[in-house]
Amino acid sequence: MPAGIVGIGSAVPGRILTNRDLEQMVETSDEWIRTRTGIRERRVVSPGETATELGLRAAQRALEVAGLEPEAVDLIIAATSTPDTVFPATAVRIQKELGARRAAGYDLSAACSGFVYALHQARYLVEAGAARHVLVVGVDLLSRITDWTDRSTCVLFGDGAGAVVVAPVAEGQGILASRLGADGEGGPHLYLDAPHARHTVGGRPEEPLPFIRMNGQEIFKFAVRLVVEETQAVLDGLGLSVADLDLLVPHQANIRIIEAARERLGLAPEQVFTNLERYGNTSTASIPLALDEAWRAGRLKPGDLVVMVGFGGGLTWGTVAVRWSLEGRP
Ligand code: ACO
Repeated sequence: MPAGIVGIGSAVPGRILTNRDLEQMVETSDEWIRTRTGIRERRVVSPGETATELGLRAAQRALEVAGLEPEAVDLIIAATSTPDTVFPATAVRIQKELGARRAAGYDLSAACSGFVYALHQARYLVEAGAARHVLVVGVDLLSRITDWTDRSTCVLFGDGAGAVVVAPVAEGQGILASRLGADGEGGPHLYLDAPHARHTVGGRPEEPLPFIRMNGQEIFKFAVRLVVEETQAVLDGLGLSVADLDLLVPHQANIRIIEAARERLGLAPEQVFTNLERYGNTSTASIPLALDEAWRAGRLKPGDLVVMVGFGGGLTWGTVAVRWSLEGRP
């Protein structure tokens, strides 16, 4: 039986950080940020807030939409680069808070592509009959790994979470195709050192905390090429064309990346969903957060063809094409 999305939810922190706020922190301007990225504001956690709490809220909403009790969940996959603890995994921390007593759980690390990587895994586990209900959570608190003195990166990122429940759906619906890719050669263009990696036997590391490091222009070129090629490839594989696409939900990194890809694909503006204006780049959370908002705004109806394209550190990328099956919100 095909696997599809039967529940969806998202959550963001309450604290809003505007471009004007950033003007007080680094040498930048609202105008520069808006014209170069499309971002106006982003959400950031306050001290004490955790990735587990944010992921949990998104997961609870997804289960509510699916009409499922936590005990129905067989597996939780949490895609994250910013776990509260390396172990226990974020997925297992969510499992406890959710009361999903029957569920196994693990975290998945594929940076901004993490959610689509996890969705691909959930798809095949459900299709194979190895699991009936898989909860896929994408959660990242990029504010915790951002260098707030580096204007070339700190204006881009925000915090958020999104979750979906993957389960069997009727023939012809659900996930029609999914593709993953990676190119380790591009790793140095976007990376985050692990905090423990500098620890030595008998030593006590003095270096500051590691932060995201990025070659923005290289990532920009990679991202535009990738969104164009992978969207085209997934449609070709289904024998479909861009005219059949109801909604493209790309990773929300930069409006200029999305616009350049949209034009090259020949898509109309209404065929592409963006919400990065309000959230910035929330890494693995960006696609489920956008998908949830698109659905709640009535931009996704049963029978629609939606393609999600993720890209990020690794370098990694992934594409999922879905024949949408969730009814609109009452
Ligand atoms: N405010 C003001 N000026 C700035 C800022 C800022 N926040 N940041 C950089 N500048 C300056 C630079 O110093 C440079 O000045 P100079 O010409 O005097 O040297 C000038 O602006 C232009 O800098 P560029 O780096 O050429 O600017 P560009 O137009 O390439 O935009 C950006 C930079 C926004 C980072 C762009 O390259 C980009 O979006 N890249 C992709 C980044 C991305 O998507 N990353 C995440 C993907 S994966 C993931 O999600 C983790």
